[in-house]
Amino acid sequence: MNETKPLTIVVLISGYGTNLQALINAIDNGLPAQICAVISDRADAYGLIRAANANISSIVLSPRAFLTREDYESNLETHVRLMGVDLIVLAGFMQILPKKVIESWGVERIINIHPSLLPKYPGLHTHRRVLAASEKQHGATVHFVNEGLDEGPIIAQASLTVSPSDTEESLSMRIHALEHKLYPMVIDWFAHNRIQLINNRVYLDSLQLPKSGYNATLG
Ligand code: GRF
Repeated sequence: MNETKPLTIVVLISGYGTNLQALINAIDNGLPAQICAVISDRADAYGLIRAANANISSIVLSPRAFLTREDYESNLETHVRLMGVDLIVLAGFMQILPKKVIESWGVERIINIHPSLLPKYPGLHTHRRVLAASEKQHGATVHFVNEGLDEGPIIAQASLTVSPSDTEESLSMRIHALEHKLYPMVIDWFAHNRIQLINNRVYLDSLQLPKSGYNATLG
């Protein structure tokens, strides 16, 4: 019998939620984690249906529903704090995570997945920008979340070779396929206490990773 307490998680989403689904599937297949809740900033996010189908409770917290941005941020921080989860997982969450959430929770307990090989191409429209720059390599990154835009210490990356026939759509599909393996892999490391963040450097099994994180071969 496995006595390990599952890692408790809240997943923050804004959209289709395929990374949320990949995590739900990985948990079904034995990843020792429990998604306590899904929080979306949009009521029409398809990820909310995925959560409902998996019997996971969800909350919609839209900045537009609050009088001020500060009220929204306080509310989000309160929800997350009261949940008391081990890890905050951003999965396509299109809001800047409030500073007060980062301060109260700690960079070492918040992760994000981003569709580029950071530090290249932070922000939006990464596939379009990769094609415009004729990049040969592209990929996905899982990183800790600090106050910068996609700037936190990198945990792991998975890459692919851009083909001459690739379009924004094909890259989006190919990168998503990588993400669906990469994110559960990294969350499994958290569930087994294999990741540490010390002085802004990431350690896997006590071994310091390069700034580009663990290079995952997932092709
Ligand atoms: C992913 O490409 C992720 O890297 C980015 O937003 C997208 C979310 O996709 N942060 P999905 O909603 O999980 O399908």
